[in-house]
Amino acid sequence: MVSVVIPNTYHGSALKAIENPADKLPRNAMEQARKTEKGIFFTVRIHSIPTDLPLPYDVYLWIDSHAILFRKRNEVIDHDRMERLKQSGVKDALIPDEQRQLYIYSLLDMVRHPDLQMDIKARFIKETAFVHVHDLFTQQNIATVLSDSKILIEEVVKFIAEDMEAATSLMRLSNHDYYTYNHSVNVAVYSIALAKKIIGDDKLVLVAAGFGGLLHDIGKRKVDLNILNKEGPLEKDEWRVMKKHPDYGLEFLRSYVHVPQDARDIVGQHHENFDGTGYPGGLKEEEISKLARICAIADVFDALTTTRSYREAMPPTEALETMFAMQPGKFDPAIFRHFNKELQLKGRLSLEEDFDPCDHEHSKKIKKG
Ligand SMILES: [Fe+2]
Repeated sequence: MVSVVIPNTYHGSALKAIENPADKLPRNAMEQARKTEKGIFFTVRIHSIPTDLPLPYDVYLWIDSHAILFRKRNEVIDHDRMERLKQSGVKDALIPDEQRQLYIYSLLDMVRHPDLQMDIKARFIKETAFVHVHDLFTQQNIATVLSDSKILIEEVVKFIAEDMEAATSLMRLSNHDYYTYNHSVNVAVYSIALAKKIIGDDKLVLVAAGFGGLLHDIGKRKVDLNILNKEGPLEKDEWRVMKKHPDYGLEFLRSYVHVPQDARDIVGQHHENFDGTGYPGGLKEEEISKLARICAIADVFDALTTTRSYREAMPPTEALETMFAMQPGKFDPAIFRHFNKELQLKGRLSLEEDFDPCDHEHSKKIKKG
């Protein structure tokens, strides 16, 4: 056993989300930051720190209400030491806030490392994606995050070389404490995998699919947190605001000219239904971009198969069956057939009513027919 003891206060207010996995979004970038007598630190998950390589940043641990230097910049954490830390219950480390970009670049270096084992690479891809999504949802100016995210998405496109197998290997990895981060990353991965099946190996399209998946709910930045994090059902007025998030997303991205139009279409149209009953535009069939139709399937599938604060995750087969019961109205039938074929649908269920991944109350009402 390692002598490091993480006190209960480690899971105090600054790290509320760790106590309450749930669906809550942080208020801002500083919610995960920790102010100490040694300066401001940000929290990272311990397994996002590579072992047996010189680290380009300082690593601190939170011990007895103090930030204690664990490894100085350019020092190494060997594999065994890291394993002992994890076994002793250490989940997070602290890195000085001014070294944040060094941490992000080192993650990207790991993702781009040519000789990394597949499973380790998958872990770093997911960790890097979490950091990016966190920043996309909390930073004031996301220009740098967007360009870093693009590099990451290009790597994910390379990673998902052949089929859904590589994609599902990414999904199997441990979840982040914030539902929205997991969800955005998973939707990006599913969207790339499905676009690859349907549209083919056009790198620009696949990157747009992944980018759009990562950004699809970015408009929720502008939705009041009291609505976004509300435990009970949304009032009519609150639901009206929630339904604006696709438009808010487009509005927010307007000043970021490097986001491809295909990705913007995903942000603006991922809640449009194939039969025209969706929002915000009531678009139907071909009026909805193909990538948005793909993302709509990825969005619902991941929402159903993920544990939320108010219900257990559905097994993938059951989620597919549930989605099948929504046909033909909600999804593009041809695209859904491909998705279904990939994940091998068996049997059927009926759905009490439509399912919207952004309406957490609706998803409680799903029942077997
Ligand atoms: Fe959404």
